[in-house]
Amino acid sequence: MEVSLGTLLRMPGVPVAAIESGTAGTSDARRAARQPGAEAIIQVSDVIKVFREGDVETIALRGVDLEIARGEFVALMGRSGSGKSTLLHLLAGSDRPTAGHVIVGGVDLSRVEESERARLRGSVLGIVFQSQNLVPFLDLEENTLLAASLADRPVDRSTAGEALARVGLGERAHHRPAQLSGGEQQRAALATVLVTRPAVLLADEITGELDSANATILLDLVSEMHAVESLTIVLATHDAEVARRADRIVELLDGRVVGDRRIR
Ligand SMILES: Nc1ncnc2c1ncn2[C@@H]1O[C@H](COP(=O)(O)OP(=O)(O)OP(=O)(O)O)[C@@H](O)[C@H]1O
Ligand SMILES: [Mg+2]
Repeated sequence: MEVSLGTLLRMPGVPVAAIESGTAGTSDARRAARQPGAEAIIQVSDVIKVFREGDVETIALRGVDLEIARGEFVALMGRSGSGKSTLLHLLAGSDRPTAGHVIVGGVDLSRVEESERARLRGSVLGIVFQSQNLVPFLDLEENTLLAASLADRPVDRSTAGEALARVGLGERAHHRPAQLSGGEQQRAALATVLVTRPAVLLADEITGELDSANATILLDLVSEMHAVESLTIVLATHDAEVARRADRIVELLDGRVVGDRRIR
């Protein structure tokens, strides 16, 4: 019998080193809630993530299987420390799994070099995280122009300005990221997503630092991109109101998927 890494990790007393040295077993990936018949743009199988600092090991993900169809809007929920941001970073290719596979747009991120992951981040993914990827010495307009050109979708200044206006930062086009609040920086990152038009938006607590009026503006924008451009969205949130916008809610607890239901 082949035992999957996820199963191994669920067994008590199995050291992490033994798990890492093993080979990935056949994964019975979680397909239940994915839109039937639709192509999976994201496939996560048997993913384990262990953080090590000195002698301290933190197991952030303990065998996650997840498939997300192209065009789906998935809310990732779960209490603080359950592994939401860790999973998003693996999907973004900004970190690698300790074991298992993360396949985005047909590319196995655990297998390819950083240069390929960076290319994917620039072209296929839009990323709005708690800490932003904005270039500190460029103003918002220049950041938007740069992101568009890195994604091979160059735009002119007026288009960049329009994108900033849509996220409520029209007046701040010539401010640098450090001159903005955390929530404003997240909105600036969303402006870059508007111009790069990625296939997948990965968003981490984008409404966490906003008042409810601004949160609604941002969510309306994200929902519109989902509806009009069939953008695939994976959005981590603590807020049930925010999650209600999604098609499907995936719940994490202690690094495992404990709930997966379609709400629309
Ligand atoms: N770089 C790191 N080094 C060590 N441990 C980490 C690191 N990043 C995350 N962890 C740990 O991994 C676990 C999962 O963290 P993660 O940030 O994914 O949780 P989360 O669900 O996003 O929580 P929150 O809702 O508070 O944002 C936590 O126990 C956290 O302390
Ligand atoms: Mg988090």
